[in-house]
Amino acid sequence: MGDMYKLHKPEQPQPDRLITPKVHPWSRDKHHFLHRYLDAFTTAMKDKGWSGLHYIDLFAGAGIEDVDGYGLDWGSPLIAARQTHQFTRLHLCEIGKKKYEALVERLERYPQPNSPQTLRGDANKRVDEVVEEIEQSALSVAFLDPYGLHLDFETLRRLCAIRADLIIFFPDHLDALRNWENVYRGQPDSNLNKVVGTPTWNQRMIAKPRDQWAHVLTQVYVEQIKSLGYTHFDYERITLKRGQPLYRLIFCSKHEAGATIWRRVATKKPGGQWTFDFD
Ligand SMILES: C[S@@+](CC[C@H](N)C(=O)[O-])C[C@H]1O[C@@H](n2cnc3c(N)ncnc32)[C@H](O)[C@@H]1O
Repeated sequence: MGDMYKLHKPEQPQPDRLITPKVHPWSRDKHHFLHRYLDAFTTAMKDKGWSGLHYIDLFAGAGIEDVDGYGLDWGSPLIAARQTHQFTRLHLCEIGKKKYEALVERLERYPQPNSPQTLRGDANKRVDEVVEEIEQSALSVAFLDPYGLHLDFETLRRLCAIRADLIIFFPDHLDALRNWENVYRGQPDSNLNKVVGTPTWNQRMIAKPRDQWAHVLTQVYVEQIKSLGYTHFDYERITLKRGQPLYRLIFCSKHEAGATIWRRVATKKPGGQWTFDFD
């Protein structure tokens, strides 16, 4: 089986004087899936009659990152900006001042069909400004990639005002489970409640042994997202080198077309191995 979504060979970023966050190697794995999905999405959807194709990145970073042990790599907003079939418009939010400024400067190297919407601040507070800029007849992909528990469920609810597939980097093992017992449990205003959008995970997790907590948490989260009308889900486990689980990449769509694209591109795993989809 050949790779039906061949990527243009991504040349490596060149060093510049701008801030370049040091990141863990697993960042390459999430970008593997994002890059393949965006390439396939923009190719498949470009002539399908949408009034526009938009890319939303609410935790955008600086545009280039320094991957521990691998060197410079494109960050998610520049992966989107460098697409062969360009998005109609990019919508990017970043809270860090220096990262935001670096992102804006780096974006200028990749002229877009429309000037990108760039916001500096808390994505959870600024999401409405993004939604207001995107028309109902457009199709969007939103990449939601916080470091930890920073993406409020309310923000997902706000995004539902437009037609957007979601790719969520969900730290089910990393932050959530390390802090569950001593920080989040029984706290009505905990970050975990805000992220999952319900306190029911408390009871559901207590009822299960520790090795099932991550699974239960993801289940509760996905049920919540389903309540927003999402019907198609897919999952990739992101791990440390020796296989310890960290995050889950969760793909969510309300339509079969996006889910079909995701399933196809996700058959190729970051290490180069393939899995096969029999449905
Ligand atoms: C995992 S990094 C993003 C990496 C980027 N998406 C990529 O793949 O290249 C998370 C980013 O979110 C930013 N951030 C953290 N909290 C935020 C918030 N509430 N709103 C917007 N950005 C936030 C951080 O400064 C950081 O740059």
